[in-house]
Amino acid sequence: MNHLLTGDELGRDEVLWILDRAEAFKREPLGSDLLARRSVALIFQKPSTRTRVSFESGIVEMGGHPMVIRPDDLQLQRGESLRDTARVLGRHVAAVGVRTHDDGELRRLAAEDQLPVFNMLTQGHHPCQALADLLTLREAFGELDGLKLTYVGDGNNVARSLVVLGSKVGVEVVVSSPPGYQLDGATTVEDPREAVAGAQAVYTDVWVSMGDVDTEKRRQVLAGYAIDDELLAAAAPGAIALHCLPAHPGEEISESVLYGERQRIWDQAENRRHAQKAMLECLLGA
Ligand code: CP
Ligand code: NVA
Repeated sequence: MNHLLTGDELGRDEVLWILDRAEAFKREPLGSDLLARRSVALIFQKPSTRTRVSFESGIVEMGGHPMVIRPDDLQLQRGESLRDTARVLGRHVAAVGVRTHDDGELRRLAAEDQLPVFNMLTQGHHPCQALADLLTLREAFGELDGLKLTYVGDGNNVARSLVVLGSKVGVEVVVSSPPGYQLDGATTVEDPREAVAGAQAVYTDVWVSMGDVDTEKRRQVLAGYAIDDELLAAAAPGAIALHCLPAHPGEEISESVLYGERQRIWDQAENRRHAQKAMLECLLGA
């Protein structure tokens, strides 16, 4: 793997390798000093809690320096090209993570081939989240092959990454969204109750993602696409609830599910760090 832009760069064996290493990191957080005296740049053009905190702590645990860069810090905002920015980053840091709007921006940065590039969330994809989600699923059920995960809500970046990465390791991902908010190319079942039948995991995300402008319309159209105890009861016995966070209790998820017995949501948030450390090993050729 030279870059992680969508997750499609990874084969089944690489995903499973990352999950194995992530489990090892969870048991032994200081288990690698791959990044000793090296820096990893983290460029955030959108806000972040989990991604920033988990990458910063994870990189430090691997002996490295996380160089967090906000857009205003870079000459990019004064018109310096991505091409030139990539050339300079490549002379100083081991890899660069980017959170931005446009997937094309990330692809162009990677195409310069100056250093490994990884996606920390774009409009289209969130592969680091999906790796942590697969780790969480495997912890809950022991193996991934044959599991069914139903994503309920906006067919967005998080849903797409679950489809891309889930399909690598035998997880059937069904997406339940209303017309206008469905994910192209995904198995879609419009009715959430029908969609969750037989699912071992029921997943949701915010109705309004960073950069979305049709806030009120989304709240209206997506109103029936929330996870609550009733919907969970329509899934497989023992089904778990997942959410990438940040959550809006009372909108896409009920408070009783978010803090209840069946959620693995806070484990998902923790697993970001373990999965990303393993991803960095994979990216940097440990
Ligand atoms: N789940 C996730 O990526 O959270 P942040 O936006 O807080 O990084
Ligand atoms: N779909 C959300 C995910 C946040 C982690 C967004 O892009 O804002």
